Amino acid sequence: MNVQRRIALLSVMIVMGAVLGRAQIPSWESANPIVPIPDPPLGIGATEKYKTLTEFPDAPTPERVRLGRWLFFDKRLSADNTISCASCHQPKSAFSENTPVSTGIGGQKGNRKAPSFLNQAWTATPHFFWDGRAASLEEQAGGPMVNPIEMGNENHDVVVQKLSDIRGYAKHFKEAFGTEEISIERVTKAIADYERTRMSGNSPWDKWRKGGDRNAVSQEVKKGHELFFGNAFCNNCHLGQNFNDGKFHNLGIGWDPEAKKFADEGRYQVTKMDADRGAFKTPSLRDVSKHAPYMHDGSIKTLREVVELYIKGGNRNPHLDRQIDHRFAEQLDLSENEITALVKFMEALDGEGYQDTEPTAFPQ
Ligand code: HEC
Ligand code: HEC
Repeated sequence: MNVQRRIALLSVMIVMGAVLGRAQIPSWESANPIVPIPDPPLGIGATEKYKTLTEFPDAPTPERVRLGRWLFFDKRLSADNTISCASCHQPKSAFSENTPVSTGIGGQKGNRKAPSFLNQAWTATPHFFWDGRAASLEEQAGGPMVNPIEMGNENHDVVVQKLSDIRGYAKHFKEAFGTEEISIERVTKAIADYERTRMSGNSPWDKWRKGGDRNAVSQEVKKGHELFFGNAFCNNCHLGQNFNDGKFHNLGIGWDPEAKKFADEGRYQVTKMDADRGAFKTPSLRDVSKHAPYMHDGSIKTLREVVELYIKGGNRNPHLDRQIDHRFAEQLDLSENEITALVKFMEALDGEGYQDTEPTAFPQ
């Protein structure tokens, strides 16, 4: 073989080697690379016990979050491969959605609105669902998979078996947990860790209040802030960095004055305490403008109408939260301009850090 031929052969081999080498990294891995655990954006974590996600006990790891991201967006987690967690928790709607109630497997409708879960890593009191029936994001994540109208699997074993049959996943369970074994605990842990990285901060409001930038918001937002934390008493319940108190209150949403009952009894279903009838978890107001309609049943269309509900003191019913009843019925008298200011204030809570898109490829 002369020198030229040898060089030619060698180049062919190098090119082929490169092609083969590339082919060994499956498309799904480059579609969802391992990335470092993100730092919390401005306004989140600073005053808390744990300042960053990496300080949490059993902290999320980049490998677990990568696996969780696939699982969160993977429709194969549902019985007929049509529904993923993201079908109802859509990134563009702050991981909530823009319909009053959700549509699950086979077009079935639920009776509650899908809540946003931004910043839930930092939730002061871990109560998940509108009635608080799950105590951790892990416990929560197992629910929808076996809910007959959400993802419709008979039980968790079916989900685990299905994922075990997808060969491409084994490697990533090993990466995340040390061995290839797939269990429901690992599946929910990975998803929960992905959820924990969905943080929202650095909003115009944070830039003003936490970053000291006086020009970050308008005068109207500042007026709305004064009202929210002052005369309008909103921060009695919407407080802290996430604007929620982790408690349950009855605003009278879903009360039928004729039949004298609630369409949904909320927290009562968990505690069986009379006082909890019609009470629901105070939702966070982070990125609230992204996911109208509002309330647990999506019955209120705009932020303005939400404020109007508070002005009239909620919907009267025998279990109405006393803070709403007393304070609002007698004292909340806001002008049109003040209502607008409150709405602008809430819109200034739209932040960044959580945005994401569906991975373009999944383990096969
Ligand atoms: C068919 C729509 C649908 C699907 C699919 C779905 N969810 Fe939900 N999700 C909801 C609804 C509706 C609620 C509120 C239910 C309630 O309060 O009873 C909820 C509640 C939650 C909450 C509680 C948030 C809070 O602040 O209390 C989290 C977290 C969550 N879902 C994560 C997930 C994950 C993870 C998956 C996939 C394994 C998933 N969801 C699949 C509709 C859905
Ligand atoms: C007594 C506690 C309490 C007070 C005070 C309060 N809220 Fe709420 N807020 C809640 C609860 C609980 C819900 C959910 C109720 C439901 O779905 O049944 C809610 C829901 C909301 C929502 C809808 C969010 C979503 O994701 O659907 C907005 C917006 C809101 N409140 C803004 C305000 C504003 C503005 C004020 C002051 C005028 C205020 N709240 C005062 C407890 C309170």
